[in-house]
Amino acid sequence: MNGFPPILAEINNLSKDQITWLLYSAKRFKLGVVPVGKYQISDSHHPIIATSFLENSTRTKHSFVIAIQKLGAMYVDFNSETSSLKKGESLEETLLTLRHQGVDLCIIRTSISHQFDEFKKNPPVRIINGGDGINQHPSQALLDLMTFIDDGGDVHGRTVAIIGDCIHSRVAHSLMELLPQFGCKIILAGPEECLPKKLESHFDSSMFYLTNDTEEAILKSDFLYLLRIQKERHSGPAAYYDGYLQKHGVSLARLENLKEQGKISTIPLVYHPGPANVGVELDHALLKSQYYRAHGQVANSVYMRMSIIKAMLMNLGNNVSSA
Ligand code: CP
Repeated sequence: MNGFPPILAEINNLSKDQITWLLYSAKRFKLGVVPVGKYQISDSHHPIIATSFLENSTRTKHSFVIAIQKLGAMYVDFNSETSSLKKGESLEETLLTLRHQGVDLCIIRTSISHQFDEFKKNPPVRIINGGDGINQHPSQALLDLMTFIDDGGDVHGRTVAIIGDCIHSRVAHSLMELLPQFGCKIILAGPEECLPKKLESHFDSSMFYLTNDTEEAILKSDFLYLLRIQKERHSGPAAYYDGYLQKHGVSLARLENLKEQGKISTIPLVYHPGPANVGVELDHALLKSQYYRAHGQVANSVYMRMSIIKAMLMNLGNNVSSA
């Protein structure tokens, strides 16, 4: 595949065709059409891929590591805590150093929003954004789209309600760029403090709806996508946190009541990027129910990340800095 960018910092780095290819390729990995464990990205080059998680992670880091190993690439775990970043070396110099050691691609998570903006024109090495602050988490949104399609078919004409701390969610920001391209509408729901005051002008407003009413969001949507309140990104205690589950969260009983009242015909599938705060945005009964699909998202994450890595490495030699 030609033209895949050397840096995946945000969804808008990809064309719709490229996203469609990623979905197709991930599905082939999932179905076993391409044998995992034997697949080599190149016969002549044994790629080296590093991860650098400057902020904690369970799902993203380990699914990338598994994806790397299933692709038969070499893996380097770059430990920022014991690196020269702690002596004040810049991220650019660090990545150039890794590149000259032979690293082809680096997957980076950082707490700094837009940290990759400086690399857009001249990336020191191929980069996949594993989540930057509150800005973007493109691989999560792509695996979420894959899971929606696996579960419900074409998303065109469907609606996803993203419920919770939307303004602090990098996943929400990536989904907002991704889903409307495929004809899927988005409802952003949550307390006023968690919703944008207004949509940025580049969004097509006909594809979005904002509400503080969780029940309205449930009634108007096909899929529910719950978000954690990201207390670590708030400047102080959030007043809306007490009683959140009853007012803004989703419990199994709440969904069953809506069905019994005839307000919904079926209980919708519920997604979550994780980690979930049980007792806040959802209850334990919903977490353990057949409607909760977070483990399906996690399972798909390996295949989607294999697909992204493959696409980026098939362009070896293109577009990275000559420094
Ligand atoms: N979804 C996600 O980014 O989870 P982790 O923080 O566990 O990687």
